[in-house]
Amino acid sequence: SGLARFIQGLPKAELHLHIEGSLEPELMFELARRNRIALPFGSVEEVRKAYAFSNLQDFLDIYYQGADVLRTEEDFKDLALAYFRRVAADGCRHVELFFDPQTHTDRGIPFAVVADGLLAGMAEAERSLGISSKLILCFLRHLDEDAAFATLKAAEPYLDRLVGVGLDSSEVGHPPSKFERVFRAAGERGLKRVAHAGEEGPPEYVWEALQALNVDRIDHGNRALEDPRLVERLAAEGMTLTVCPLSNLKLCVVDDLKAHPIKRMLDLGLSATVNSDDPAYFGGYLGDNWQAVAERVGLTREDLVTLARNSFSGSFLTDAEKARRI
Ligand code: ADE
Ligand code: ZN
Repeated sequence: SGLARFIQGLPKAELHLHIEGSLEPELMFELARRNRIALPFGSVEEVRKAYAFSNLQDFLDIYYQGADVLRTEEDFKDLALAYFRRVAADGCRHVELFFDPQTHTDRGIPFAVVADGLLAGMAEAERSLGISSKLILCFLRHLDEDAAFATLKAAEPYLDRLVGVGLDSSEVGHPPSKFERVFRAAGERGLKRVAHAGEEGPPEYVWEALQALNVDRIDHGNRALEDPRLVERLAAEGMTLTVCPLSNLKLCVVDDLKAHPIKRMLDLGLSATVNSDDPAYFGGYLGDNWQAVAERVGLTREDLVTLARNSFSGSFLTDAEKARRI
């Protein structure tokens, strides 16, 4: 359709993508075979049927289980390359991807295996697909502060190849303030800071991400809309929100895409962006998320251009890099 072509042709960046969440069931089976791992599923169809979630924790349980097939540097490279090939078709020019090292180091996979594999996939994507990318290390917030500090220590040899740190996993009960010191340490090492906040957690968690973690972006941020003072602050700062429409639908953060707040966010002057979060689990990649909100929320082409512009202005590309990307 005309709309699909318009979206495909817009230069876009993806700023909220968990690379482990791009593991398609087909690749899960291939890696299980390659690594001689028994899966608790008999077929790709059976895996897909298990992807019915009523909240964030339902999803996280199956997402951490799926990651068990990732063992070697080649596995992580193949995972990243499969994702980049898929979003190249969507007209995606730049990606800032999250990874969860603790999910792997806690299974005995060295940090270097994970990071070297992902970085190899990123380099190959830049060469063969022309997609640039930057890597963000996420701390798992259901684990403690000491574990986050140990992860930052393990990342020490890679600091020049990481653009920032993030905070993900189970939000409610794990407020941003729990990670204030490790985020300060990351900032002192020259890293950008982002955090998931206001996906399921209250507006207070978004305030904490701003005030205790000094974040450069808010991941999700949906529930910030419940607090007018917070909205005012986010708009005044030009804070980027990395919003994930199909994720919000699958995790029941919204009941219906028609009622998705992305349009309201733009109308309130917030720098919202559209992203896929965990595309293999939530039924769509970057282009599908754009298409879904454009159609269901009824965005104008002007809105879509604003969203595309926000995806680059909210990125961690330098001005020189931006000039070459757009
Ligand atoms: N890890 C992967 N996807 C996530 C999400 N949407 N929220 C929190 N943690 C995550
Ligand atoms: Zn996320």
